[in-house]
Amino acid sequence: MMTQQSEAWKEKVVYQIFPRSFQDSNGDGNGDIPGIISRLDYIKSIGVDTIWLSPVYESPRVDQGYDITNHREIDPMMGTMEDWERLLEEVHGRGMDLWMDLVLNHTSDEHRWFKRARSSKDNPYRDYYIWRPGEKDGEPPNNWTSYLGGSAWTYDEASGEYYLHLYNKKQPDLNWDNPKVREEIQKMVRYWLDKGVNGFRLDAINVVSKDSELPDTNESKLEGSGYKHFKNGPNVHKYLRELNEKGFSHKEGTVTVGEASMVSMEDVSRYTDPERKELNMIFMMESPSIGTDPDDSFKTREWTLPELKEIVTRWEKELVDRGWFGLFASNHDHARMVSHFGDDGKYWAESAKMLATLVHTLWGTPFIYQGEEIGMTDYPFESIDQLDDQMARHYYDFRTQNGEDPQEVERRVLAGTRDHARTPMQWDDSEHAGFTTGKPWMPVHPNYREINVHAQEQHEHSILNYYRKLIAMRREHADVIVHGEYVPLLEEHEQVFAYIRRNETSQGLVLLNFSDQKAEFELPEDVGVCLESAYRMLGNYPPHTEGSGEEASGNDSAGDDVPRVLRPYEAIIFGGLKPAQKG
Ligand code: GLC
Repeated sequence: MMTQQSEAWKEKVVYQIFPRSFQDSNGDGNGDIPGIISRLDYIKSIGVDTIWLSPVYESPRVDQGYDITNHREIDPMMGTMEDWERLLEEVHGRGMDLWMDLVLNHTSDEHRWFKRARSSKDNPYRDYYIWRPGEKDGEPPNNWTSYLGGSAWTYDEASGEYYLHLYNKKQPDLNWDNPKVREEIQKMVRYWLDKGVNGFRLDAINVVSKDSELPDTNESKLEGSGYKHFKNGPNVHKYLRELNEKGFSHKEGTVTVGEASMVSMEDVSRYTDPERKELNMIFMMESPSIGTDPDDSFKTREWTLPELKEIVTRWEKELVDRGWFGLFASNHDHARMVSHFGDDGKYWAESAKMLATLVHTLWGTPFIYQGEEIGMTDYPFESIDQLDDQMARHYYDFRTQNGEDPQEVERRVLAGTRDHARTPMQWDDSEHAGFTTGKPWMPVHPNYREINVHAQEQHEHSILNYYRKLIAMRREHADVIVHGEYVPLLEEHEQVFAYIRRNETSQGLVLLNFSDQKAEFELPEDVGVCLESAYRMLGNYPPHTEGSGEEASGNDSAGDDVPRVLRPYEAIIFGGLKPAQKG
C-alpha cells in the first residue's frame, strides 16, 4: 500500500480549457493565452487545482490544434511564448498546476519532419512516419480505415508510396518503432518540464504502437477499422515505460493522464499500475460514450441506467489497488453533458447538478470541461455548413458519397458534432457573451443571456455554486471520497444510481435520480440502519418542499426520514452514516 503522501496527486480536480473558445483578449474572435490569464481568478474560484490546456502549439488547425507543426512553439493565434510563460507563472502564483496536451500519435503534414520525410525515400526523416509501397493492383498496403472514414492510407505521388494516418490525411502517424522518433518525443517532454509544466494529457496514446506487419483486418467498418492491430498495440507499454523513464521522470511529481479508448480493465491496470511506471491515469471513456454506436461515432444507441452503473462499478471495483483513472462527463470531443445525459429544458439545472454529483463523488480524478460548470448546452446547429469539426464534415462527405441519405446523415452529424462543446464560453450577457469584442470564430449559443458565469455568480443555488460546494466537499472528505471504497446499491434500478463511499471510520451515501420522473426505491435494510445517524451534506433540491405537493425526499438530518423517493434528477449526498456492522 502506498503512503497517503505519494497519493496526493489523486486528490486533484482538473479544469480543461479549449483555448480558442475560452476568452479572446485582442478582438480577433479567437480565444488566446492572455485571455486565459485574465480568467484565472475565476478558475481558481471554482476550487480546482489543475488546468489542462488543449493544444496551443503551432498548427494549421485542420483539427483545432491536434495537428501540430512545431511542438515547442506557441501558435501566434494563441499568443507568444512570453504570454505562455506568464500564464504558467500566474497559474503557479495561484497555487495551481498546468498540464499541457501531448499529441504524439501524429503530427501535421506541414510539420518540418513530414515535409522532409516526403521529400524523398532516402531522407533521414522518411522513417519518422509509416510508409509502404502499396499492393500490386494499386490498392493501399492494407484495408484499415481511418477514424474519419475511407482508407487510412494516402498515396504520395512524388515519392510513390502510401503513408499511414489513423485520423485525417493531414495528420500522418509517427513511426514509434523508430528510436529517433521516441528520442525526439522524450526531449520535447523534458523541454516542457524544464519550463515548469506539471503534467500532461496524452492524446490517443494507446494507438501509437502498430503491429509492424500491418496485417489486413477482418473488421468491416467504414470508419476506424483495424483496431486489434494497433489499439494497445505490441510495444505500447514498453514505449510508455521508456517515455516515463526518459521523459516524465525528469521532474518529480509530473502527473500524466492518457486518452485511451477501448481498453479492458487489464489494459487500464497495465497503463496505470504505479509499479509499472507508465502513466498515472487514463480516462474512463466508456461511460461518456455509452450512447454512441461503437461502430459508428455519429450514430446514437439506446442505453439504460443499469448499463451505465455496470461500467462505473466495474472500473471502481476492479481497479482498486492496481490503477487509477480520470472521470469526465464532457470534453472537447463530446456533445454537452447536460444535453446528452440530462435534460437541457425543464430540468436543466437539476440534471446538470446531478451529473456533476456523480463525477465528483466517485473514486477517480474528476475533470471539468469549460462551460460545464455553468451548464452550457448543445448549440442549435441547423446546417452542415455551420460546422468547423473536421470529423463531422468528413463523415458527412464520406457517407453521402457512399450513397446514404444526405438529410439523415446531416441530422446525425448536427446532433453529434464536437462543435457543441466548442462554441465560446459564456461569461456574461453582453454582446458575444463577453468572449470577444470582435466576431467570434464559432457562434455564441443564443441562450447566453440566461446561461452565463456572471448570472450564476449572483445566485447561491446556481450550477456554478453547486460545483464549488461539491469540490470543497470532495476536498474536505478526501479520505472517503478520493481514497475510500465504492459500494454499489440498487444495481438493477432503472432510474436511481445509488452507492456508498466508505473507509474504516466514515461512510457516505449518494443517491441520484437519472430520470425526469419521480423515482421510488427502497434501500437495503442494513443501509437504512446506518442512515439513522446520517446528515444531509449536499443536494440539488431544497431539503423540504413546503406546499409544493411534492414529497420531501431529504432532511437536514436523515433520522427516521430515510428517503424513499427522489424528485426528477434529484441528487442527495448523506454523510455520517454509522460504519457498517461486521458480520
Ligand atoms: C483525440 C483528441 C481529438 C483529436 C484526435 C486526433 O481524440 O481529443 O480532439 O481530434 O485525438 O488528434
